[in-house]
Amino acid sequence: MSESQLSTNPEDYNLEEIKQDLTVIAKRAGDMMIQARSTKPAPGTLAKKNIVDLVTETDRAIEVMVSNALRQKYPTFSFLGEETYTPGTPLTTAPTFICDPIDGTTNFVHNYPNFCISLGLSINRKSVVGVIYHPSRHDLYSAIVGKGASVTHLSTNQVTQLPLQPPLPLVNLQSCLLAVEWGAERSGPNWLTKINTFNHLAASVEDGGKMVHSMRSIGSAALNFVAVARGDVDAYWEGGPWPWDVAAGWIIVEEAGGLVLDGNPPKEGDEGLAQLDSRNFLVVRGAPSGQKEVAKEFWESMKGTFNYEF
Ligand code: IPD
Repeated sequence: MSESQLSTNPEDYNLEEIKQDLTVIAKRAGDMMIQARSTKPAPGTLAKKNIVDLVTETDRAIEVMVSNALRQKYPTFSFLGEETYTPGTPLTTAPTFICDPIDGTTNFVHNYPNFCISLGLSINRKSVVGVIYHPSRHDLYSAIVGKGASVTHLSTNQVTQLPLQPPLPLVNLQSCLLAVEWGAERSGPNWLTKINTFNHLAASVEDGGKMVHSMRSIGSAALNFVAVARGDVDAYWEGGPWPWDVAAGWIIVEEAGGLVLDGNPPKEGDEGLAQLDSRNFLVVRGAPSGQKEVAKEFWESMKGTFNYEF
């Protein structure tokens, strides 16, 4: 059967088996990262778009391993990988494996332990299976649509459901701990949007700011999604991530009760939901109340800065 004839109903696939396959591949990738990480800086480090947009030979070797393994077992599924992506290739409705071989490459290069592999499956342009392996911590995060999200600590095989604790209501934006990222684009209107918003979020109320509790930069979009799903941070905001940065984290966050929203303020009457290829995200943790209110407050606080444009 060709790719275009495949069903776009997730119920027609054995998502549990797919999750198991992605888990095996993610562990293999984690071993490759840990083995390569013993050298600093990581071997074969190259700049892509600019001097802070990095790739290593390990990123490439892992993507080859992942795509070979998946193409062998699922030859009719599409594959979208960071290191083999051809600019302009759209994410279609077909079942598509979405792979970031190392998310947090800059951390990997510096031996800073926040790096992971992110493997997602999208069907009908929605994330339905996600596996993220954080090898320095031996933590493997996974979710299947409708089946909840969990973390398995591979040293002990202990499985814990996400979020880690029953979530408290979100009170307001001011009392949030936020995750944000610096990204690799360091000039132009998107950069101004980012730093103007950082300033507005952090500045004192007397100076017109929101004075949020604080902001953290983990250095990996996938691990930021994980931090939201765990309940470690209240929300994550970033303009710039690609589908491979977010596909696995997306379903893990949703299954942990969180929301993946547009990073720009939505137009009047629009709910502000994001798409896998929006490249612009506001991700809010699970909470018995206050999720949409905090999102609205966030969007309000962006007014007066520019919107992100890609
Ligand atoms: C990047 C990281 C970074 C985030 C960027 C991503 P990479 O992915 O997740 O934290 O700020 O938006 O592109 O290059 O490490 O795979």
